[in-house]
Amino acid sequence: MKHLVAPSLLAADFLHLQSEVEMVNESAADWLHLDIMDGVFVPNLSFGFPILNRLKAISKKPMDVHLMIVEPQKFIHEVAATGAYLMNVHYEACTHLHRTVAAIKDCGMKAGVTLNPHTPVHLLEDIIQDVDMVLLMSVNPGFGGQKFIEHSVEKTTALKELILRKGLNTLIEVDGGINLDTGKQLVDAGADVLVAGNFVFKSPDPKQIIQALKSL
Ligand code: DX5
Ligand code: ZN
Repeated sequence: MKHLVAPSLLAADFLHLQSEVEMVNESAADWLHLDIMDGVFVPNLSFGFPILNRLKAISKKPMDVHLMIVEPQKFIHEVAATGAYLMNVHYEACTHLHRTVAAIKDCGMKAGVTLNPHTPVHLLEDIIQDVDMVLLMSVNPGFGGQKFIEHSVEKTTALKELILRKGLNTLIEVDGGINLDTGKQLVDAGADVLVAGNFVFKSPDPKQIIQALKSL
């Protein structure tokens, strides 16, 4: 499968959200990545349901929602109501991850499990068969514009090996510090979806950057 690109709206100009989403609509992007933060799981706040519910009306790309919050199981119905295609919950935030993954799928969404940079891939051994995607954080979650953690490439390789060993087709998404150089390393290691925030939105030509990420 050719890899996908998911621009992260966190880096967009929030005074012009509609035109930023329209740019993504017109681009080669596959998904729109949306980062929700609670100030508890991560040391920052971003945006929440009032924004997601408005984006639903204008985003032509499937919404890939990344919840950086404690107790994400409390909000599964609310996320589903935004029309989200995929709901990512953090491994570190879910005590009953299997139940949460099942509930996400019962609500008609794809289920993603996200790993912080320090969380090893082998902890997915007994849940990987139930998830549609694993999101590997290649920075510590909470902020855009951080430096890529190089070890994420090895981690992508290890995750790909786990998925192949189990005979699965689980997607691998990677998020944080992605540009053409880090993106190429990740695609070569087996990444299926590249998230990019600052690299896309702070560029003078975001559509061209999205196309360049697609062409890796
Ligand atoms: C970080 C978020 C990312 C962020 C990526 O906590 O999960 O999605 O927006 O931003 P860049 O690509 O700028 O590192
Ligand atoms: Zn994210």
